[in-house]
Amino acid sequence: MDKLLVTGPGRLNGTVTVSSAKNATLPILAGALLFETPVKLVDVPKLNDVATIIKLLESMGVKVERDGKSMTLDSSNVHNLVADYALVKTMRASVLVLGPLLARFGKAKVSLPGGCAIGARPVDIHLTNLEKMGAKIQIEQGYILAECERLQGCELSLSFPSVGATENLMMAAVYADGETIIENAAREPEIVDLANFLIHFGVTVEGAGTSRIRIVGTNTQKKYAATKAYRPIGDRIEAATFIIAGLMANSNIVVNGFEPWTLEAVLETLEKMGAKLTRLEDGVEVHPSGRLKGAVIETAPFPGFPTDVQAQMMALMCLCEGNSIITEQIFENRYMHVPELTRMGCKVTLKGNAALIEGVESLSAAPVMCTDLRASAALVLAALTAHGQSDIQRIYHLDRGYEDLEAKFKGLGAKVERVK
Ligand code: EPZ
Repeated sequence: MDKLLVTGPGRLNGTVTVSSAKNATLPILAGALLFETPVKLVDVPKLNDVATIIKLLESMGVKVERDGKSMTLDSSNVHNLVADYALVKTMRASVLVLGPLLARFGKAKVSLPGGCAIGARPVDIHLTNLEKMGAKIQIEQGYILAECERLQGCELSLSFPSVGATENLMMAAVYADGETIIENAAREPEIVDLANFLIHFGVTVEGAGTSRIRIVGTNTQKKYAATKAYRPIGDRIEAATFIIAGLMANSNIVVNGFEPWTLEAVLETLEKMGAKLTRLEDGVEVHPSGRLKGAVIETAPFPGFPTDVQAQMMALMCLCEGNSIITEQIFENRYMHVPELTRMGCKVTLKGNAALIEGVESLSAAPVMCTDLRASAALVLAALTAHGQSDIQRIYHLDRGYEDLEAKFKGLGAKVERVK
C-alpha cells in the first residue's frame, strides 16, 4: 500500500493549478446516461472515484473513449440497468445513476450505498421524492428497485438541501411529464455546474444556485445533443487545501483554475483570522500572513462553510494564536483526523459535534493513518509544517479525490515523496 513521506517545516512558492472538481465530474458522468448522443468532456480528473463511476457506466453498456484527460461517452446502447454492490460500495456517488436510469429507461436496480467513515449517509430524500414523481420503489436484498411508466413533473420540497438528492432529482426531471420544481434545493457550485451541463445539451433548467430549481421535462424521443465538449468547474475543495497550505507555511503562492466565489465562506473566514489574500479572476493569491488568530466556525450547506474543508481548517487552527471552535453540522462522524493530528502534537478536545482547538507553537512529525478523503488532506497539511519526516499511510483515501497531489506540492517546493 502506498504511503507519503512528508518532511517539514518548509516554505512554499510558485503557482499551482487545481484539477476539475470531483464533486462536479461525478454527477456529470452519471448524467451522460440521459443522452443517446455522444457526451464529450474535457479536463476529466484522473481520480479513483472517477475510474469507479466509469467502470460502472461501462458495466451498463456505455462506450467510453479516452484521449488523455478528454473523454467521449456513448450511451446509445445501454443494456444493463443494474448498479452492482461491488462498485457502489466503493463509491457512494454511484447512487447518482438512479435518476438518469429511471428517467430514460423507466427502470433501475441500484445497490444501496450503505454508510461510510464520516456517517450513515441515508438516501431517503432521494427515494421519497422520486416516489412523489411517481416512481414505484422497493428495497430488496440491499438494492433499490425502482420502476415507473413515466415520471411526473411536480413540486418537490426537500427536507434538507441534500447535494446528492438535488442532483438525482434534477436528472430524473429531464424526461418527466411536465415541469418539476425543487424547493429547498442544494445551492452548491457543483449543482450549478450540473445544471449548466444539462443546459449545454439543450435541457431547460432555471434557478440552479438558488434554493428553487425548475426543470422542464420532455419525452425521451427528444434528441438532446451538444456539439462542443463540456469542462467541469475547477475543484474549490482542492483549492482550499492549497490556500490553507500556503497560509500554514507563511508563504506567497498562487492557487488558480477555480472561481473564487465558490469558496467565499472559506476566504472570508481566513481573512477574519488575519490571512492576506487577493482574489484573482480564476484563483487566489496567498500572501505571507504570519501566525493567524483562532476562530469559531460551523459547517453548513452552501453558501455556508463547507464540511469538505473542515479538517483542513482544523489543521490550520492547531497552529493559530488562541483557541478555535468547530461545529460539524453536516456529518455525524467527521472528526477521524483528530486522533491522528493529536499524534503530531495538536490539542483538540471533542464534545459531541464540536471540537475545541487550542493553538500550539509548532507540530512534530509522526507516523499517521488516513481514514477518509478530507481527513487525509489535513494530515498532509500538518505534516508539511511539522518538524521532521512524517509517514502518512493508507493514502488511497487521498487518491480518491486529489489528482497528482504530491507532484503539485513538489511543484511548490515541498518535500513530499510517495513510497510504493
Ligand atoms: C456531497 O455528498 C459530496 N459528495 C460530499 O463530499 C459533501 O461532503 C456533501 O455533498 C456535502 O456538501 C459528492 O458530491 C460526490 P448530502 P452527498 O446528500 O451528496 C444527509 C468529499 O469529501 N442526507 O448533501 O452525499 C446526509 O446523511 C465528499 O468530497 C440524508 O439524511 O451529501 C448528510 O448528513 C464527502 N438523507 C447530509 O444530509 C438523504 O437522502 C448531507 O448529505 C441525503 C442526505
